[in-house]
Amino acid sequence: MVRKASGSGSASRKIRVPKNIEPVEVEEVEEEEYDEADDLNAYVPDPEIGDRYISRRLFGGHWDVDILTYALENKKNVLLMGDTGAGKTMLSRAYAAKAGMLYYSLPCDVSIDPSALFGKIVPTEEGGFEWVDGPVTQLVRYGGVLNISEINFMPPRIAASLYPLLDSRRQLPLLGNRGEIIEAHEDLLIVADMNPQYRGTTDLNAAFKNRFPIKVPWGYDKRVESHLVKNKELLSFAEKLRAKVGTELRTPVATNMLLEFEEHESALGLDFASENFLAAFEDTERGAVKQVYDVHKGNIKKFYDDERAKAEAGSAKDRMRNAVESASDDEDEIEIMDDEFEFEMED
Ligand SMILES: Nc1ncnc2c1ncn2[C@@H]1O[C@H](COP(=O)(O)OP(=O)(O)OP(=O)(O)O)[C@@H](O)[C@H]1O
Ligand SMILES: [Mg+2]
Repeated sequence: MVRKASGSGSASRKIRVPKNIEPVEVEEVEEEEYDEADDLNAYVPDPEIGDRYISRRLFGGHWDVDILTYALENKKNVLLMGDTGAGKTMLSRAYAAKAGMLYYSLPCDVSIDPSALFGKIVPTEEGGFEWVDGPVTQLVRYGGVLNISEINFMPPRIAASLYPLLDSRRQLPLLGNRGEIIEAHEDLLIVADMNPQYRGTTDLNAAFKNRFPIKVPWGYDKRVESHLVKNKELLSFAEKLRAKVGTELRTPVATNMLLEFEEHESALGLDFASENFLAAFEDTERGAVKQVYDVHKGNIKKFYDDERAKAEAGSAKDRMRNAVESASDDEDEIEIMDDEFEFEMED
């Protein structure tokens, strides 16, 4: 199992992962250390993200957040490999939010200027020059969670700067700052992610992959989705579509597409939600998706209709109870009115 967080002078506190998931111990980064960093670009994510995140179990029954704690304590980089919109990026943000750690997501974009990540020399008010850390450097100095998003698209000039940080040296050389070499902070967790199998993506080169001792395949998780998506028929529709990805379909059915379906259904109605869902697929796929949807549509609609009827009955009952309570202090009378109301509703 994951060993308890240790480390001199650093506090340790319990974080609680949502929905009946066991608490884990993570090391808290000392707040006063942040003060040393002027103008932090890295940030502690909103705790709301930590509360919203639903954890999943990985191989061997370990919770994803426990694996991150293990990686943090043992200085092992983590690589999440898998489907789009499956919560890979959210995991590292949620972890940082729960642990109160600094967070930065490094975009792997060819146009990115290394100085925006590592830092640069800027003029001072006094007429001199000084070095200002970029967000990656800040995390290496002060600790935090560094997410490397879509690492298989990392431009070679950024990769070259990161190699010594990602291997056992755990050092970041700052050529722009007279060759300063920073030893990574005790509490630096590096989590990269990638979608390996899609068109337009490339695989990760072996030297890079080798720098991630923890590699986690990351597909869509049934248990997570059953917590996030209310409509079970929508989930079985998604399952049917996913069975066709790789043969009839190419577009993945992402977890967030299902969440958006429910959001749109609630705000804009079922027709909008379903057309919007279909629009995510390529022209050549839409016919096949529509065919499967038509099989499930009736039950998907019934679920939302029933939910609305229940909600309306609930609020009618609340209104009735409030009216009776304000008209009478007699508990028995209130109970009789409640029973009568239930009876009427059953009719
Ligand atoms: N475990 C989860 N708990 C709560 N929400 C989730 C979870 N997994 C996915 N989501 C929802 O799906 C959205 C997309 O997740 P995220 O951006 O982390 O996916 P990703 O795997 O990084 O995708 P990509 O590979 O395209 O970057 C989230 O913003 C969230 O709304
Ligand atoms: Mg992502």
